[in-house]
Amino acid sequence: MRVTIFGTGYVGLVTGTCLAEVGHDVVCVDIDAAKVDGLNNGVIPIYEPGLEPMVKANHAAGRLHFTTDAATAIQHGNTIFIAVGTPPDEDGSADLKYVLAVARTIGQNLSRPAVIVDKSTVPVGTADKVRAVIAEELAARGVQIEFDVASNPEFLKEGDAVKDCMRPDRIVIGASSPASIEQLKRLYAPFNRNHERIVAMDVRSAELTKYAANAMLATKISFMNEMANIAERVGADIEHVRHGIGSDPRIGYSFIYPGAGYGGSCFPKDVQALERTAKQYGYAAEILGAVEAVNARQKHRLFELLDAHYGGKLAGKTIAVWGLAFKPNTDDMREASSRTLLARLWDAGARVRAYDPEASHEAQRIFGERDDLLLCESARQALEGADALVVVTEWKQFRSPDFGRLEATLADKVIFDGRNLYEPREVEQAGLAYYGIGRGR
Ligand code: UGA
Repeated sequence: MRVTIFGTGYVGLVTGTCLAEVGHDVVCVDIDAAKVDGLNNGVIPIYEPGLEPMVKANHAAGRLHFTTDAATAIQHGNTIFIAVGTPPDEDGSADLKYVLAVARTIGQNLSRPAVIVDKSTVPVGTADKVRAVIAEELAARGVQIEFDVASNPEFLKEGDAVKDCMRPDRIVIGASSPASIEQLKRLYAPFNRNHERIVAMDVRSAELTKYAANAMLATKISFMNEMANIAERVGADIEHVRHGIGSDPRIGYSFIYPGAGYGGSCFPKDVQALERTAKQYGYAAEILGAVEAVNARQKHRLFELLDAHYGGKLAGKTIAVWGLAFKPNTDDMREASSRTLLARLWDAGARVRAYDPEASHEAQRIFGERDDLLLCESARQALEGADALVVVTEWKQFRSPDFGRLEATLADKVIFDGRNLYEPREVEQAGLAYYGIGRGR
């Protein structure tokens, strides 16, 4: 089938590539000419395991095209995805200017029937706005073309995006017309083998499903961080508690890891946006507000542990930081807890030697050159001349360090484990002080 995708960001590029991989003929459009140029020459703008070879192979096979020419791209697809960004507005609601600008372009250029699909995470009611904008443009041209606007939210996780897209656990399709649902079912048929993964519903339910999923996941994390903070005070170890509750299948083991707070481009933005939507409809979403507040506080937790350990005297200290990305297997630092930690350390007059396997160039871009930051080439290099170590992101390579070497290298012999990767007793036996999250034994 012929598919057009607006936006070659995370969602658009991965979706377009996976649709091409199963044989569809895909045109990806972006207004960023440098990015399109790069993609046409094999330069992939994001780090995502498995993506690069897949883009190159499908591009070479002629099933995946990149262009800035929106008008021609719109002629191409029977299905046109909108996968452009929806950054948070000042008040926390999602800014729809890019989505609606694409809708306008579609309305100005559409020449035959198509199903327009909102793929970006957009507030409930956006499909109706997209429909209105397209209709307005068609009316201005004095033409009548049949089109429908559907919602097909994305559930990709950064770092697992290709896998999530190729083997989705569900494909949510929201549309009012049975014909649109049929068209999208055919498009996704190659991903829907062995058992039924397609969940079809009305548009607004599909739009809300996306927010409900992310809000539920963010709630699990903030809930566990709250438990961790209680555990610390009452002299319990949250890691035992985590195992103790996860064994109940109604709770489950996944997504109940306490830590330095959630980050990334989705949870913070989506929780805020849903809260905002609720408010617009006259409802105060108490749980969402609390999820946000707990997370904002949790991002300061690591600094508080350091500050307490050093009795407020961090000035002149050199702190090794392992991990800058908001989670492993990505170079993304949006809303990352590391940013809160670094800002607080610098405010307190400490220096930072940081290492992240993928996010160094991103850190360089964000922080620029500064005397109190050295971006290191290896985990070991970050430790040289450091007084203490803080682990912020749970990259696999940080999981089993040589504690004897850490003891010999770190001047103040102390580790702050922001993701509870280590066994406190093992660290302490090596002669180091240990601080984790919620480990008040
Ligand atoms: C999230 C969702 O997991 C995806 O299903 C969704 O499609 C995506 O947002 C989106 O809306 O596009 P992502 O932001 O890539 O995906 O990252 P996650 O793997 O969900 O992690 C988010 C944050 O939660 C990270 O900072 C991570 O460290 C933190 N986290 C996760 C915890 O602190 N504890 C946990 O138990 C799990």
